[in-house]
Amino acid sequence: MSTELIVGLDLDTRDEAIRAVTACGDCRWFKIGSQLFTRCGPAIVEAVLGLGKNVFLDLKFHDIPNTVAHGAKAAAALGAGLFTLHASGGRKMIAAAREAVEGTPARILAVTILTSLSDDMVRNEIGLPETAAQAVPRLAKLAVESGAHGIVCSPQEIRLVREAVGPGPIIVTPGIRPEWAGKDDQARVMTPREAAAAGASMIVVVRPILKHAQPAEAVRLVLEELNA
Ligand code: C5P
Repeated sequence: MSTELIVGLDLDTRDEAIRAVTACGDCRWFKIGSQLFTRCGPAIVEAVLGLGKNVFLDLKFHDIPNTVAHGAKAAAALGAGLFTLHASGGRKMIAAAREAVEGTPARILAVTILTSLSDDMVRNEIGLPETAAQAVPRLAKLAVESGAHGIVCSPQEIRLVREAVGPGPIIVTPGIRPEWAGKDDQARVMTPREAAAAGASMIVVVRPILKHAQPAEAVRLVLEELNA
């Protein structure tokens, strides 16, 4: 199965977002996170869908099961094809979200341990008795068993997560840099081809595409690499 490209709309305004989607040529998926959604609201999701694209709504829900279920229902009603929640919200929260979107095309992705957290922070601030490398597969398995359709993880975690959840679930990974792009602030990256080979179903790419002089050409190069 081929790996899909998602371009993240890490932008502040509707105009910039619409311009970016239009400039991205053949890319079929766009990620809308808290930055753009908080500024533009559901209308930006409707606008991107109106351009014939799919939306990954990355709001990382984490609340009591009833509240997350209502949020999940709203994401599905809005037409988001994918949306995120935190696996650490627990089994009941994830199951409630799954029940809320049953019968719709919306798919739930769980975030395990944020990659911005070091092992020291996981232990001493969050208070888990494990390293991130131990917590990530455990939470990924819990999430999928509870009803998540997939997992968001870093490129370095793809193999660990794939082993934990098996071949079926969606794995989405950011931290991707084609060989022709600079790393920006990403420390440990994989190329699109490496991420696909490691088992990613979808990759999220932002700056190498949106900062490219010709975003449609950057999209074409990434899609060519993924489909090679
Ligand atoms: O520009 P770049 O391709 O590095 O953007 C990556 C996107 O993925 C950004 O939206 C960033 O917030 C997100 N992300 C990430 N690493 C994570 C989680 C999310 O880069 N661990």
